[in-house]
Amino acid sequence: MSPGATRSGLLIAGLVLAAGCAQPDDGEEAVVEEAVVEEAVVEEIVGQEMPEATAEAVWAFLEATGFRDSWELWPGKGEKYEGSEPHGALLTTYVNAPALQAISDLAGEMPVGSVVVKDNFMPDGMLGATTVMYKVEGYNPEAGDWWWAKYMPDGSVDMDGMAQGRVEMCIGCHAGGADNDYLMTAKIGP
Ligand code: HEC
Repeated sequence: MSPGATRSGLLIAGLVLAAGCAQPDDGEEAVVEEAVVEEAVVEEIVGQEMPEATAEAVWAFLEATGFRDSWELWPGKGEKYEGSEPHGALLTTYVNAPALQAISDLAGEMPVGSVVVKDNFMPDGMLGATTVMYKVEGYNPEAGDWWWAKYMPDGSVDMDGMAQGRVEMCIGCHAGGADNDYLMTAKIGP
């Protein structure tokens, strides 16, 4: 049994206990319980607590996950595949578990907790920047609830620290894929 399976077993046990304590006739209590369950479900799929939507927290999360070794590549894309403007000549795109599941299921959109990380390489193969999309509940409902960032290889944020958050420049172009949950690499719907 994998550590993940043990952990989800514990989580489910926790949820059952929480459900047992809920007061079905108390509306406010029920809403709180629901929020707890949703967060637990995300963490169960991801296997890890999700970060705040800040550049520092997300970078720390990515470093801790070791995404380059532990996450899957975007299905059908290898390492250093040819990209288009503006992201760089060669791209490697990593997806975490919820994102991968949405792509595999042709779900049409990714669930909260999804993270897509793209390494952008120069023509000579050197890493130029790392761009991130992270779906956060209620973060930006007008544009798919994505949090955006562009990190330089040293972990600093591009555009003097401004290339993070609801970055208009990113959203403006990715809006071309609004009917595909703002994702441009491939269609993720039927
Ligand atoms: C001018 C258009 C354009 C802009 C601006 C842009 N992107 Fe993209 N992005 C793309 C395209 C096109 C792809 C698909 C990969 C490719 O072929 O380059 C992509 C792919 C991605 C991906 C992989 C997931 C996906 O959508 O398929 C991420 C992550 C990403 N971009 C993040 C960003 C971030 C963060 C910014 C802003 C700092 C940004 N992008 C700005 C066009 C753009």
